[in-house]
Amino acid sequence: MFARRVMVVGTGYVGLTTGACLASLGHEVVCADIDTAKVERLRRGVVDIVEPGLSELVSEQTSAGRLSFVVGNSAALASFEEGRSPEVVFLCVPTPMGAGGVADLRAVESVMEEVGASLAPGTVVVNKSTVPVGTAERTAEMLERADIGVVSNPEFLREGSAVKDFLGPDRIVVGSDNQDAAERVAALYARLGAPTVLTDAASAELMKYAANCFLAMKLSYVNAMAELCERVGADIADVTEGIGYDRRIGQAFLSPGPGWGGSCLPKDTHALLQVADAADFEFRLLRATIDTNTRQRQRIVDKVRLAVTGKRTGSLSRVRLCLLGLTFKAGTDDLRDSPALAIAALLRQAGAELVGFDPAFVDGPEALKFRDGEPAPSEVEGVPLAADAVSAAQGAEAVLVLTEWAQFRSLDWSVMAAAMKRPIVVDTRNVVDPATLRRAGLTAVGLGRRTDF
Ligand code: UGA
Repeated sequence: MFARRVMVVGTGYVGLTTGACLASLGHEVVCADIDTAKVERLRRGVVDIVEPGLSELVSEQTSAGRLSFVVGNSAALASFEEGRSPEVVFLCVPTPMGAGGVADLRAVESVMEEVGASLAPGTVVVNKSTVPVGTAERTAEMLERADIGVVSNPEFLREGSAVKDFLGPDRIVVGSDNQDAAERVAALYARLGAPTVLTDAASAELMKYAANCFLAMKLSYVNAMAELCERVGADIADVTEGIGYDRRIGQAFLSPGPGWGGSCLPKDTHALLQVADAADFEFRLLRATIDTNTRQRQRIVDKVRLAVTGKRTGSLSRVRLCLLGLTFKAGTDDLRDSPALAIAALLRQAGAELVGFDPAFVDGPEALKFRDGEPAPSEVEGVPLAADAVSAAQGAEAVLVLTEWAQFRSLDWSVMAAAMKRPIVVDTRNVVDPATLRRAGLTAVGLGRRTDF
């Protein structure tokens, strides 16, 4: 394997993982960022992102001399020795959704303006961020240089397992209209031995959306199936286990929940709808996937209403509810597009009084890593936070389990029951054993579960 000289622009979640992991594969990596304080922290081995194994990898690779951090793109480019300029430049800059659902490519543009003219002939520019179809083409136009190859190399990292996903990928996708550039990028990953899809730029760009939208569709399907299970007296856990043995379906990503959220699935489903609209294609399946997800939040509220009042139209006014878990999934402090917060907003609109608890927002040593020593906030988007689950449950008429933190499973549910005003647990992730809840004198309401009937 040839070690390559790589420059990574942007040290966010994707850029830092890419830089540290490529260095661990033996490449010489310089990461550029415009944030001076952040670069200084990274040089000291301080990583702001909570990702298992990332800060260790950054420290290890920095000490090994394969990874360094520089303020500014031009300075990063200049940091390579004379005649040894970077062979590959990864763009890992934000591409937020701009007006009309079109991704804002100003960050890509400004990087190209700044360093485009200074890149050595034969350099390959790689788009790593999730970008709309056509970005590689636009990047090539911005560059106005036929001697630079532009490649799309989407990442498929999950929050909470980014390093593992990067170093053990299901596949590598490399798309370019320049075959040689694509092969050079694919070679960077050769040591991983992963199946590699070499394709054109538009297909690679579309593939990222296609994957995330398929995953979203799988979850909307499971959530709808859980609802059907409730109506026909079937059990979603058995149904998903049974269908999951079919290798064409697979066991993963089949857990029902309060709806999918986070910074990727919601953004990408909407973006692909825009792509379809712009191409004059009515993507009904994708629209139904999104609508099912929006409806799922209301469905949880309806379940709570029925469980607490005994009526479909009962009032939740002044009903105290305890929310366990506010992040978009367990193992993160990320609240972006969190279904838990969407449900909290609906419950508040219905007049309920909420108290939350989330293991990411307490002062314990485990949670502190999320905030670099900062004290825990006292509220999250209008939901006051308690220091522990039992305090949050004090006087509650129901406890809602909204994220799948493992510690909710092992809570002392008799102590929880003693603290509550009424013994109802609505487990939107089906994570707590219903028999344990029942032994504690609690009524368990899950999603699509036979044990609840
Ligand atoms: C997702 C994809 O899984 C990654 O492959 C992709 O690279 C990433 O988006 C991205 O585009 O950057 P992530 O947003 O970190 O990763 O989260 P997931 O673990 O996929 O979870 C997404 C949502 O689905 C969460 O709200 C989660 O709670 C929910 N979910 C997941 C379920 O409700 N049930 C499941 O069985 C799995």
